[in-house]
Amino acid sequence: MSVRPSWGSRLGVILAVAGSAVGLGNFLRFPVQAAGNGGGAFMIPYFISLILLGIPLMWVEWTVGRYGGIFGHGTAPGVFHSLWEKSRFIKYFGVIGIFGPLVIFIYYVYIESWLLGYAWFSLTGAFQGADARSLQAFLRGYQGLENNRYFQGVGTAYLFFLLTFGANLWIISRGVVKGIEWLNRWALPLLLVFAVTIAVRVLTLGAPDPAHPDWNTIQGLGFLWNPDLAALKDAKVWLAAAGQVFFTLSVGIGVILTYASYLRREKDVILSGLTSVSTNEFAEIILGGSIVIPAAFAFFGPSQIQAIAGSGSFNLGFVTMPLIFQQISLGALFAFLWFALLFLAGLTSSISLLQPAMAFMEDEFQLPRKYAAWVTGAVTFAACHPVIFFFHRGVLDELDFWGGTFSLVLFATVEIILFAWVFGMDRAWKEMHHGAELTIPRIYKPIIQYVTPTFLILILLFWLMQEGLPVVFLKNVSAANQPYVLATRLGLTLLFFGLALMVRWAWRRRRNKGRGR
Ligand code: PFF
Repeated sequence: MSVRPSWGSRLGVILAVAGSAVGLGNFLRFPVQAAGNGGGAFMIPYFISLILLGIPLMWVEWTVGRYGGIFGHGTAPGVFHSLWEKSRFIKYFGVIGIFGPLVIFIYYVYIESWLLGYAWFSLTGAFQGADARSLQAFLRGYQGLENNRYFQGVGTAYLFFLLTFGANLWIISRGVVKGIEWLNRWALPLLLVFAVTIAVRVLTLGAPDPAHPDWNTIQGLGFLWNPDLAALKDAKVWLAAAGQVFFTLSVGIGVILTYASYLRREKDVILSGLTSVSTNEFAEIILGGSIVIPAAFAFFGPSQIQAIAGSGSFNLGFVTMPLIFQQISLGALFAFLWFALLFLAGLTSSISLLQPAMAFMEDEFQLPRKYAAWVTGAVTFAACHPVIFFFHRGVLDELDFWGGTFSLVLFATVEIILFAWVFGMDRAWKEMHHGAELTIPRIYKPIIQYVTPTFLILILLFWLMQEGLPVVFLKNVSAANQPYVLATRLGLTLLFFGLALMVRWAWRRRRNKGRGR
């Protein structure tokens, strides 16, 4: 068997996990979710979810990943099987841990490529001087939603997609240390510097319009943080908060598990896991919360901010922010920093989404890294095309639903029950503390055993009723888009079963070679 790689250093693995966590979710998704779900009140379910779901799951994923690594497994099928040797079916549940990240990757990388495009346009001045309508037209033209004076077709977007996709593939083909760790070592600190710079600039804007002294960034922070406690009675707000915690931390989908499988057995997982969570939360709450909403408030005032925040992440990021940067000195530079920040944040996340597929082929089929990268590249490259060319048909949203929401909650539920109940809580607790440089407060033992799984099952049920079933039955999909959405589902089903067959094949080979777990 080929030797599995190990992280070059402790800082390296922490930066890699934090790099996966810090992404578009922190700077675009979070502010929109918070503003749209009760403002400051959103932070109550958010923190509860962080403490009862996010942090425990982060520890569990680090621990089970490191445990699976002992047996040469770096993806959920093998790791789950190591935790529950007697079961014949659990490895198929683990397929979600390769499938989910691939599905997220397929659309995430496309959005990431827009950011590269926009970083370029900021430098070339392509949308210099454009007003809100023109910027909207620019975005719609770029996305291929309309032909206009800026763009005819998605050619430009496709070019930036090819560059972004190529960068992702190149990095993962260089391996865990020379690719993933190398990138995160410089890109994560750099993007944090960019984000701090922009946040400071925004917070020192004061009141940019002398006619409206109350349109200022402090009031903008108030808009984001003043709690609307009535929102707490709404189950939707709780679901949104829990969903945001999962998505932003990259937990519950198999990615952290794969990263942790490259740890040596004696390495700490508790302090490292907590450090990666803290880094992400700093980037999310402090930095993510101080940029788009306060800036938009200061420039557009209280009456328009609702509509702006409600118009979604893309509008905020690609229309509102460039508009604001045009009105401040050195605006082109700040616009570039903004898009470069988002591009780098996206890149350090998207490579983590590819690694489970890579690890699966390397660990279970002993495929050399270069070939694993070719296979992963070919499959994801083909799968990105419907997202690009049928963007207006709801393909991206459909993938986000199955990959970014459904798979996440389901995988997290199975993972924690498996660890706390099948592997057994006493063993689990011991395994977590093996090599640990920090002792987890004892209260977390019953939390992991009872509270987190119960909370997850409740979320799963509520979410299925509130959002899942209407989506499954195409309640909000126009008749014209239905064939595209159904075709997407067919594609996803094929991907899932393809992976499941590969798992079966891998285990057959294992058995024939007489290997254990
Ligand atoms: N955490 C990333 C973000 O906040 O943008 C997105 C993400 C990456 C989700 C990796 C899930 C994942 F496995």
